[in-house]
Amino acid sequence: MDWIREILYDLEDKNLYRRRILREGLKDFCSNDYLGLRDHPRVVEASKRALEEYGLGSGASQLVSGYIRVHAELEEKLAQFKGTPACVLFGSGYMANVGTIPVLAGEGDLILSDELNHASLIDGCRLSRADKKVFKHRDYEQLEEILKKERHRYGKVLIVTDSVFSMDGDLADLKALYDLSEMFNCILYIDDAHGTGTIGRGRGGLEEFNLRWRGNVVLMGTLSKALGSYGAFVCGSEEVVELLVNRARSLIFTTSLPPAVCAGALESVRIIDENPDMVERLREAERRLLDVLSELPYDVIYEGTPIIPVLVGDEGEALSISKKLLEEGIFVQAIRYPTVPKGRARLRFTASLRYSEGDLELLSEALRS
Ligand SMILES: Cc1ncc(COP(=O)(O)O)c(C=O)c1O
Repeated sequence: MDWIREILYDLEDKNLYRRRILREGLKDFCSNDYLGLRDHPRVVEASKRALEEYGLGSGASQLVSGYIRVHAELEEKLAQFKGTPACVLFGSGYMANVGTIPVLAGEGDLILSDELNHASLIDGCRLSRADKKVFKHRDYEQLEEILKKERHRYGKVLIVTDSVFSMDGDLADLKALYDLSEMFNCILYIDDAHGTGTIGRGRGGLEEFNLRWRGNVVLMGTLSKALGSYGAFVCGSEEVVELLVNRARSLIFTTSLPPAVCAGALESVRIIDENPDMVERLREAERRLLDVLSELPYDVIYEGTPIIPVLVGDEGEALSISKKLLEEGIFVQAIRYPTVPKGRARLRFTASLRYSEGDLELLSEALRS
């Protein structure tokens, strides 16, 4: 079909064509498995036990017959870990965001969203049919101006932010957002996908800023990144959780998470809970990676999180560096538009407890060559 070919040629022409690369045999420096938990012996063992006990799939959605003890245990543990009264699981982070935001805001409401928020948050905002205003990245003065001007015109107002921004690795100032949300009577929706397991002793954004959960805060997190599993969760008040169970379409109309996936994630949370030094060790791993990346003639962004992008700028150049590194057995994705703005292409390196000194030497040699 011509129209398909045209789209694909156009993408190729702009260096924006995307290809999936088989990871086997490569040293992966861009995964979100920051703590190396996906194959931790305890996680694998817990997962295996659940597989033997329950089989592979959960069999149905949460509201039909797909809600079992391991789901409830994981929800309870996550609520305790995050310091909230309740928690509910979702099939993925994408599903949590597109399902929850439209439940919290709809027609006649206003959503205020950071310009660098993750695509799943943007899609959730679009689906909600609420009015939307995007504020400049981490510009809370602009946010306050908008609130002063617009707050009185709306019923509910939802402020939406990543805690750790997924492509830059920087942190939202959750204290500023927490205060603004209280001052202007707003709901604060925090996507803690990359904060969970990496900041605030592993408990994420609120703990990092020494904040305690409050009733107007809704906290989303994923099982798929530092927890080394798959799926997601939303923490908040009992009421919010009940509302999501009754209204969130991406929870109601989909099969619940496989038990083995939840059992593995539950073990990961326990491991982080028992070993708060893991986050300190992750900071050391970040500094070691940063030392290696500093040899490059590009700006390297380091904001105290494991996401350490090397800003290349030009899409073609980022792609060609990524390809050359692949030839050396090193896997780091060139992140390009529309994931990041045009002309802001980058190599998104991530630090992880997985890497040995030998791995970093290999990376250093490859970068030099
Ligand atoms: C900030 C953020 N939110 C949500 C998601 C989606 O999570 P998941 O991969 O579990 O769908 C991601 C990553 O993919 C993310 O980076």
